[in-house]
Amino acid sequence: MSQFKRSLVTTALPYANGPVHIGHLAGVYVPADIYVRYLRAKGREVVFIGGSDEHGVPITIKAQKEGVTPQDIVDRYHNLIKKSFEEFGISFDIYSRTSSKTHHELSSAFFEKLYKEGKFIEKTSMQYYDEKAGQFLADRYIVGKCPHCGNERAYGDQCEACGTSLNATDLINPVSAITGNTPQLKETKHWYLPLDQYEGWLKEWILEGHKEWKSNVYGQCKSWLDNGLQPRAVTRDLDWGVPVPIEGVKGKVLYVWFDAPIGYISATKDLTPDWEKYWKDKDTRMIHFIGKDNIVFHCIIFPAMLKAEGSYILPDNVPANEFLNLEGDKISTSRNWAVWLHEYLEDFKGKQDVLRYVLTANAPETKDNDFTWKDFQTRNNSELVAIYGNFVNRALVLTHKYFEGKVPKAGELAPYDKEVLAEIPCIIERVEKNLESFHFREALKECMNLARLGNKYLADTEPWKLIKTDEERVKTILNICLQITADLAILSEPFMPFSAKKLRGYLNKDSLNWDEMGADVLPEGHQLNEAGLLFDKIEDEEIQRQLDRLQATKKANEMNNVKVAPAKPNISFEDFQKLDIRAGKIMAAEKVAKTKKLMKLTIDTGIDQRVVVSGIAEYYTPEEIIGKRVSILVNLEPRNLKGIESQGMILMVEDADGSLAFVAPEKEVKAGSEIR
Ligand code: 2FM
Ligand code: ZN
Repeated sequence: MSQFKRSLVTTALPYANGPVHIGHLAGVYVPADIYVRYLRAKGREVVFIGGSDEHGVPITIKAQKEGVTPQDIVDRYHNLIKKSFEEFGISFDIYSRTSSKTHHELSSAFFEKLYKEGKFIEKTSMQYYDEKAGQFLADRYIVGKCPHCGNERAYGDQCEACGTSLNATDLINPVSAITGNTPQLKETKHWYLPLDQYEGWLKEWILEGHKEWKSNVYGQCKSWLDNGLQPRAVTRDLDWGVPVPIEGVKGKVLYVWFDAPIGYISATKDLTPDWEKYWKDKDTRMIHFIGKDNIVFHCIIFPAMLKAEGSYILPDNVPANEFLNLEGDKISTSRNWAVWLHEYLEDFKGKQDVLRYVLTANAPETKDNDFTWKDFQTRNNSELVAIYGNFVNRALVLTHKYFEGKVPKAGELAPYDKEVLAEIPCIIERVEKNLESFHFREALKECMNLARLGNKYLADTEPWKLIKTDEERVKTILNICLQITADLAILSEPFMPFSAKKLRGYLNKDSLNWDEMGADVLPEGHQLNEAGLLFDKIEDEEIQRQLDRLQATKKANEMNNVKVAPAKPNISFEDFQKLDIRAGKIMAAEKVAKTKKLMKLTIDTGIDQRVVVSGIAEYYTPEEIIGKRVSILVNLEPRNLKGIESQGMILMVEDADGSLAFVAPEKEVKAGSEIR
């Protein structure tokens, strides 16, 4: 770090085709924000870049699904995402968008330069075309089986299951995502970045030069490079995106993965006229925060583009995370299996830090991890409330009670005091070391260890007992507790900025600096403000509401997945006429003993009163169905069920989830009327 003058921190630009969810947050935005807040607190020069990825097939597919324009889609989601990031405290210096004028100009100029310098290969090839839709099937417009991992829903440019970057022609059994048809091959011309020509350089730069990269990142790069790189098309036959800036070329745009990372540059340009300092000065350290599905684009393709262009710096590190699951299942936008940030902010007002805390404590840094609402509640109630909040509150309340809210003077230190104070710099050092090396979970754990240290010190020294006999000793104890509290307000800021701010308010300290941390942050006699609660308990009902919502989503998904049974072979009208179905009424009903499903019904069929045994007991109670209209097949051969003779069958419809409902005349009719 030390050889660099400044940092440029970028976060993957989310597609503006949907809101962001906890997977995005845990993988990219929360760790990046912690890192940037830490650098700022240390007084380092840093810019923090974010923005929406507004091109590519993910956008046009969404627009087609909704019958609106791509512009409508990106406007809607860009604004939603930007607002929820702001409310969540992701402290971007700029949150830009790739539909901006600056971006169109810059990405166009980037392409043009490479084109003019002959850095591309021009190639005419056969590509998949959907005759019915009348268009080429770029990227997500085509799905098929991944040749590497067997995932049946791999896209034409990438398999999200194994992270492999693909060409559409690699897919096994490809089909059009627009019509579901098997596509035809048709000739088209495109421009390719000859990645093979950069292979040697990439090997040297990554495999030799960046052995310090996280093992998941380094490993993926190595496997890519070991398999050998192929030229990669950087243009597409689409009409949504940055038009290919070559004279005479129409109906083609830059591949979204060509223009999107250039979005980091154009956002910086939108932020400051001094943008080149961040992109062209070797003293800048560039760090890309991304999820594992973006590794190849940020470690291989974008660096090759930057190298080809020649005037830009390369990333120094790419701390990619693995994926976060939700309640044991993969997060999925299409299945609505997610916790959406904008909904969380609505449901848990003022609790941004709880989610920031939980997502960091459980961050998928080395392997995929699971988010559960139970864990969310436990971490809030047993860690934030019971440790951090409890310690801070007791220190402040006792100071108000005994010393009118003024920081008391520390007297002579007992050996235990010295021991506790000596631990503070060790904790700070461990937090810093972990943050510098992108170990955010560990860093947070250490930060909480400071709260634990304070909590234990308070419990061990029991000032509330000592106050009757030794006020001087209590002054020392509370002075130490308040110094730890102030240290916490500084140390926890990158992780939990909202509570850190609240805490600074209680401490009556508008600003606190990282370098002040230690034993003397608050001077003797400093007046504290009234203390409130840093964190509130989260009750079971709030968690249950979230679990119920997920349960409803699961059920809706299951219903969507159930296939309607295929049609049975035709029958003749004579066959149908053999069925004698009548309108009837339930006169009596009772559960059949020792069975779960069966109910004994007495039906007025108009012809007679007869007994029918029906499998409805799991869905209805006898009381609620007495007097109900039914349709009854009266000429079904009697059957013996659990010792009862059943004389006919009540018609029921079985829903996709297996539940039953009566099929009955819609208005009162005379019992015995024929149904035909
Ligand atoms: O995977 C995605 O969501 C992409 N929109 C990320 C783009 S990152 C950058 F290169 F813009
Ligand atoms: Zn795959």
